[in-house]
Order: sequence, then structure tokens, then C-alpha cells
Amino acid sequence: MTARLIDGNALAASVRGELAERVFALKAQGITPGLAVILVGADPASAVYVRNKVAACEKVGMHSLKIEYPADVAQATVLGKISELNRDPAIHGILVQLPLPGHFDSELLLESIAPEKDVDGFHAENVGALMQGQPRFIPCTPYGVMKMLESAGVPLRGAEAVIVGRSNIVGKPMAMLLMAAGATVTVCHSQTRDLAFHTKRADIVVAAVGKPKMITGDMLKPGAVVVDVGINRLPDGKLCGDVDFDSAKEVAGAISPVPGGVGPMTITMLLANTLEAAERAAEEKQ
Ligand code: GUN
Repeated sequence: MTARLIDGNALAASVRGELAERVFALKAQGITPGLAVILVGADPASAVYVRNKVAACEKVGMHSLKIEYPADVAQATVLGKISELNRDPAIHGILVQLPLPGHFDSELLLESIAPEKDVDGFHAENVGALMQGQPRFIPCTPYGVMKMLESAGVPLRGAEAVIVGRSNIVGKPMAMLLMAAGATVTVCHSQTRDLAFHTKRADIVVAAVGKPKMITGDMLKPGAVVVDVGINRLPDGKLCGDVDFDSAKEVAGAISPVPGGVGPMTITMLLANTLEAAERAAEEKQ
């Protein structure tokens, strides 16, 4: 292995230690940060993510509420619950785990969350604020990736950054953040004609396509920094990223593993956003 490992577990532990101190300070003022997580249906991956999010809250001393519905729940029921949570002063962050079952209008649901409690940063108002360079909540996964790049000391100004994936959750906000940090950003996706042409000239590659081991070492520039957002389950039950770690680590200068890379940082930044929301609410109360 030639590449340096970008250890998401270690960074997450250090950031969570700082967050726990801030939670403690806020609790001393009589405010416990609270996160509500809504899970609809029985998607096994979503169930694991939600369980991890709720457990992470408890660990840093935050209050958390897990609300589960069967896949065939009426949209109006969930909308009613969100409206109740919007008014609940004990809840500072609300998250609806995606994807939602087919009969849901996901956009409508996300827009029903009060923007000041939208800790995922998916509400149109918050998406717009990020795009204007005035973010209120940075979506958790790209936020985590930025923290990883920062902790690894990766220079961003003037860097060539290639993002593979154009989703609202990762690719698009990632592009905004890297652009704001001074990188020259290219966003590749499933229709890109020659992916390797782009990745081979990148100083930074962020892989977020959801295709196991799609980015191989021969597609990278020697010394490139590779951050792997993918979490894919192989037929043998093992997890792997969108990057072929074994070949990529021989070419890259630094690389994040899966598991133990972006995953723990996504949850950490969700905690950070929830704490931030609670601190803002506390300030407003004063
Ligand atoms: N599904 C996959 N990633 C995410 C995320 O960051 N937030 C939510 N709410 N759902 C997701």
C-alpha cells in the first residue's frame, strides 16, 4: 500500500468528543439537543442507518426520537407527524430517511420540514442558501467529506476535483462545497462518455455512484486523493465502496476505506447540525 489512509472512524471519534463538550455546555443552560428520525418501510439498509443515527445521538448526550411507519402508511399521517415535530420545542432536528416508498412525494415531505430544523439540508430553502454560498445546514455526507479533506491537509484552492455522481444528497452539494473552497469541479455521472479521462486528471476524486468497485487504480492520477462515499453490499455479505480499494491504494496518495471512511463522518455531521440547530434555538430564546 502506498496511499495514506483517511481514517473516518478516528476523525469521527475526535469530532464527536468536541460535540459532546458542546452538548454538555448546552445542557447546563437547560437545553438538550433533540433529533427526530422518521423511517418509513422496512428497507434493511435504511433501518441500519437510522439505528446508527439514533445510537450516535445517545452517545454524545443528545435526545433522539425514532418514529417508524409501515411502508403502506398514508402520506398525510407522516405529514401530520412532521407538523407536530416542527412545533415541538424539544426537537431541534428532523430527518426523514430516504428513499421513501413509491407512493410518497419525497419533495413535498422534505419541504414540510421547518427549514430551521432541516438538519439534512434537503429543504429547497437550505439548498438555495448553500448554492448562494450562505449555508444554513450543509448536507451531512458532503460536509463529512469536506472535514476529511481538511483533516488530511488536502489543498483545495486551484485543485482539480472530480465528483462521480450527481445526486441531491451527495454529488450536487459536494460540487457546491468544493467550488466554494476554490477547487475546479467536474461532475461525472452515468451518462459521462469517458469517465477515466476525467478521473485520471483529478487531484481529488469523490466517488458517489453506488456501483461496487467501479473506480479502479488505472483510472487515477498517481498521488490523487480518493474519498469513497459508496456503501455497497457484495453477494458474500461484505461491504465495499465505489472504489476498488486494492488497486486504487497502489496509485492514490490518500484514500478513505469502506467501511470506516465517510460513513461515520456522515453521522457525525448530522450530530453537528442538530447541535448547531439547538444552539441557534438557545440563542433566539435569550
Ligand atoms: N439516505 C441516504 N443518505 C441519506 C441522508 O444523508 N439523509 C437521509 N435523510 N436519507 C439518506
